[in-house]
Amino acid sequence: MSPLPETINEGQACTALAPMQDVTTWEFMKVVHQFGSPDYYFTEYFRVHETSILEKHILYSITDNPTDRPIFAQLIGENLEYIERTVSELKSHPIAGIDLNLGCPAPKVYKKNVGGGLLINLDHVDKIFGLLREISPHLFTVKSRIGFEDTAPFERLLDLINKHDVDLLSLHGRTVKEMYWADVHYDYIAEAVKRANCPVLANGNVTSYLKAEEILYNTGCHGIMIGRSAIRNPWIFRQIREHLAGDVVFQPTLGDVFAYSQSLRETLFKESVPEQNQVNKLKKFFNFIGLGVDPGGQFLYEIRRVRFFEDMDDVLYRYLKVHSDKPFATEPYPGLVARPNRETQVKPLVEVAYC
Ligand SMILES: Cc1cc2nc3c(=O)[nH]c(=O)nc-3n(C[C@H](O)[C@H](O)[C@H](O)COP(=O)(O)O)c2cc1C
Repeated sequence: MSPLPETINEGQACTALAPMQDVTTWEFMKVVHQFGSPDYYFTEYFRVHETSILEKHILYSITDNPTDRPIFAQLIGENLEYIERTVSELKSHPIAGIDLNLGCPAPKVYKKNVGGGLLINLDHVDKIFGLLREISPHLFTVKSRIGFEDTAPFERLLDLINKHDVDLLSLHGRTVKEMYWADVHYDYIAEAVKRANCPVLANGNVTSYLKAEEILYNTGCHGIMIGRSAIRNPWIFRQIREHLAGDVVFQPTLGDVFAYSQSLRETLFKESVPEQNQVNKLKKFFNFIGLGVDPGGQFLYEIRRVRFFEDMDDVLYRYLKVHSDKPFATEPYPGLVARPNRETQVKPLVEVAYC
């Protein structure tokens, strides 16, 4: 097992931005870096299949890494030959390591026996881990859920992590079938910390620097990986560092959130893309940001209805700029949900197609 790259604050628990397809693009990494980088970044997943080639836009986040932090290249696939080919293509690029996705719960993905679907066939995972351990040019890391239908695969998964000297395990404390609606099973993360020989990053609903501290304490994990809450609050990694160091923790105001919204708007802007598509893309981010703007969810209500930049700018101005001195909530306001058909505490009738 090789050591992980140095953290920003030497010796502190580490933080990572979770890989999120269509979110953790070069542009978003650039914005997050501007507001306070995590220690590590992970790319969106590179698809690995017979005819796959490294997706240019994902590769760009490696070749032109807009942060000064290490970046891991995530792969999703199951075929040994194609995995080997993909790794050899990545070898010449400045990555900290290769990360294997064992967690994607989208049915159209897991039904191809990749992502979360790999947890159904651990004999095959054994082979993939063996191969990746042998050929990974740098670190070999795994991002997984705690099981597929239930947690039956969990113990053996940890045995395989140890057998193949995996360098880092990022563990989302839900099964594949629990998608995003169930509570996170932090007890399984604590168990993984005890049993795995490698560092473990706790992942799932780490909503604030206070929650990060609680999870670090309760699980004994090496660090924290954060996805959706970093979309809502890109200062979260900086806040964790400050809190763990005993420093004053930066408390963003709605004025800071306005600056963040402008940074997203400018960095994601693409001349060639129709305006409504651009606004729709930005609304995905505002769906998360809105959880901390007002307790009644009026901002969310209005921003979800905008179609053009002009309406969007008007809502941002009225809810954020005008109230610049008001605090941005540290935790999401209770009862507000970014993606109602995915993240409510009730199992959805239809499983949705995203990771
Ligand atoms: C929009 C979206 C896209 C995601 N894409 C990926 C992905 O490409 N690879 C992956 O391993 N996990 C992916 N995930 C899962 C996240 O990395 C993370 O495990 C999950 O969101 C739980 O962490 P959180 O509660 O901090 O968001 C995605 C999650 C979301 C919300």
